[in-house]
Amino acid sequence: MRNAKWRAATKAALALTGAGALAASMAIFLPGTASAGTTLGASAAEKGRYFGTAVAANRLSDGAYTTILNREFNSVTPENEMKIDATEPQQGQFTFTNADRIVNHARSQGMSVRGHTLAWHQQQPGWMQNMSGSALRQAMLNHVTQVATYYRGKIAAWDVVNEAFADGSSGARRDSNLQRTGNDWIEAAFRAARAADPGAKLCYNDYNTDNWTHAKTQAVYNMVRDFKSRGVPIDCVGLQSHFNNDSPYVSNYRTTLSSFAALGVDVQITELDIQNAPANTYRAVVEDCLAVPRCNGITVWGIRDSDSWRSEQSPLLFTSGGAKKAAYDAVLAALNAGGTTPPPTTAPPTTPPPTTAPPTTPPPTTPPPTTPPPTGSCTATVSVNQWPGGFVANVRVTAGSSALNSWATTITLPSGAAVTNAWSANRSGNSGTVRFTNVDYNSQVGAGQTIEFGFQGTGTAGNLSATCA
Ligand code: G3I
Repeated sequence: MRNAKWRAATKAALALTGAGALAASMAIFLPGTASAGTTLGASAAEKGRYFGTAVAANRLSDGAYTTILNREFNSVTPENEMKIDATEPQQGQFTFTNADRIVNHARSQGMSVRGHTLAWHQQQPGWMQNMSGSALRQAMLNHVTQVATYYRGKIAAWDVVNEAFADGSSGARRDSNLQRTGNDWIEAAFRAARAADPGAKLCYNDYNTDNWTHAKTQAVYNMVRDFKSRGVPIDCVGLQSHFNNDSPYVSNYRTTLSSFAALGVDVQITELDIQNAPANTYRAVVEDCLAVPRCNGITVWGIRDSDSWRSEQSPLLFTSGGAKKAAYDAVLAALNAGGTTPPPTTAPPTTPPPTTAPPTTPPPTTPPPTTPPPTGSCTATVSVNQWPGGFVANVRVTAGSSALNSWATTITLPSGAAVTNAWSANRSGNSGTVRFTNVDYNSQVGAGQTIEFGFQGTGTAGNLSATCA
């Protein structure tokens, strides 16, 4: 049973995610005052912030899980249930059953909901994966409109677009079927989301955008600055913050948070987990957020280590048995000690919804050649991001001296490894030798040009090589 203080603080924090933010924050904030919240959500609320977790619908029947969820958190993000493949499995047929289970649970507990995610190159249903050009643009905008409309008034913040920038030093957009509909696809998605749910904050969400010096961080920063200067409706930036040995927490993280905030957007830490859950690093993340007034909430990507997408890294705040870890104590202490900066005072979105219909669909920027080029040879390289128990592989297929009008590659996985999903390619097989072929939109590869596709898997990938077939 919660006490009155918890309820008041939670209510105030929830108000911060929607209308009445200024009044609510002024009502609860005492600058420089340490507090004594006994749960993550209550303590964060005392600082005008939320503390959330990713939730999986199929775990809501687990009493040990919901006990911790209901006690500790005041915000939830559906881990997979609002993704495109879950909500629109057949074109034009929307399914909200599992997402509704999470939203209804959250509302019954007074928790706010982050919506994740409306437009993404991964987790596209089969019907969308092969689409391109204006048909895909229309389908994407319709998806954004339908889902955001269905949940209008129930979502504090939407991850409108997820992971649209490439890794590495290019600072470029990620190649995908969505990107190939035209560089303005992201802003088109944001305008459609604003029109559908004017009360939700609209976020751009990505990973490996924590280190201020990284090209990807700078590229997202430049996009947000451009959007703000042109009045594209964006309210927040989500830093996923999946920290591990390959992508560690860095001390300039606070600079990243404050730099984004200085553009006039909220900053939310949206998918936090840290390999082996070092208490000091979790503490530093919380302190960094509290130091930045517009860092208005933190979400961890799961409750217990056994709930994590990277469970073998034990990256979360609770053991698989549900016990609080040292990292939990560090986070709670940091939340309670914080308070030297004011909490977010952001009003709800000020950009008026468009008075006209969502933007009309521009044609693809590069129309396919009128006569298909001959099929030639290609080479392929694979880069693997491995963690204990799973991996993501990115594959680059490069045409030789002749252009390709189709391509196929095979990749042989070691025993025990299996593909769970792929994007920007069709796949046959999921273990042993797996064959990947082009989807419609990336069948044409000019001489010397490169396309990319990727897949996620379980087990250990080792050093993979790809053969063009
Ligand atoms: O539910 C099915 C099950 O029926 C099937 O037997 C099994 C084997 O294929 O798959 C199960 O679905 C899996 C699902 O997680 C639920 O466990 C999918 O294959 C698997 O691809 C999916 O992974 C999710 C991943 O996003 C998809 O890309 C992870 O749970 C989820 O934590 C992860 O979350 C992402 C964020 O959305 C974006 N940022 C990165 C983050 C981590 O990858």
